[in-house]
Amino acid sequence: MKHEVLEELFSLRGRVALVTGGGSGIGAGCARRLAELGADVAVADLRSSEAERVAAIVAGAGASPLALQADVSVEGDVAAMVERTVAELGAIDILVNNAGIYPSHPIAEMPVDEWDRVFAVNVRGAMLCTREAARAMRLAGRGGTVVNVSSIESFHPSFVGLPHYGASKGALNMLTKCAALEYAPDRITVNAVCPGGVETEGTRQAFGDGLKEQLEQRIPLGRVGRPEEIGAVVAFLAGPAGAYITGATLVVDGGYLVS
Ligand SMILES: NC(=O)c1ccc[n+]([C@@H]2O[C@H](COP(=O)([O-])OP(=O)(O)OC[C@H]3O[C@@H](n4cnc5c(N)ncnc54)[C@H](O)[C@@H]3O)[C@@H](O)[C@H]2O)c1
Repeated sequence: MKHEVLEELFSLRGRVALVTGGGSGIGAGCARRLAELGADVAVADLRSSEAERVAAIVAGAGASPLALQADVSVEGDVAAMVERTVAELGAIDILVNNAGIYPSHPIAEMPVDEWDRVFAVNVRGAMLCTREAARAMRLAGRGGTVVNVSSIESFHPSFVGLPHYGASKGALNMLTKCAALEYAPDRITVNAVCPGGVETEGTRQAFGDGLKEQLEQRIPLGRVGRPEEIGAVVAFLAGPAGAYITGATLVVDGGYLVS
């Protein structure tokens, strides 16, 4: 394929991306891929040390980086995060709502505050970030794109213990469609990527007891995914090749859901 065609389909040069929960795992994989394709990247995380660590990796890929400390479930943090991104990088063209948590509790032993915390981060957080970033995109008047990192748990409960998580990701899929409809007139696309098992800092803790091997036996491609493989799909949706896709939920799971 000619270099110009590749450039035309996948280049993110001149775009600014904001990745929440970008300090580790899938978020870090997204930040890296977006930077490698030419975007400047703001890396936001609850943990500022991790945001700074990934911002340095992004800088190594040639992008202008920005590290931000923010809790996506807190309205004031989200407003400040978007404001600083626009002030320091000039715009927001791509928002990746990746920050998410998955503590394990079966329904029978569910602490109500844990239920609420999962929804506050995974659903309210995505809504707040979308609202604030889309406001900035509207003001700039040059369109934009939002990619929500959902999960196959929104379609299929793999284990007992993630009812709040699965329900929150189901809600995120519907939020994706509602936002796609609302923002289409502004040329802002909104899609969700639904990963299967991916090896990250978060799942390394959760996979502690041989769960990874158990899971891999059920994945037709025979292995869990890598953060950069999710990042590549996010970059595709956020780039020119994905420009006509909106309201979609794209499963990236090595075939898990068809097994
Ligand atoms: N890893 C998987 O197997 C998998 C599968 C499907 C979906 N996902 C989704 O991918 C996303 C990332 O998962 P991961 O496995 O990379 O997790 P991870 O725990 O490795 O990384 C998540 C990052 O988000 C940050 N974070 C947590 N709460 C936050 C908040 N309130 N505000 C800002 N940042 C916050 C953490 O500090 C951390 O750096 C989540 O939304 C998760 O639900 C993961």
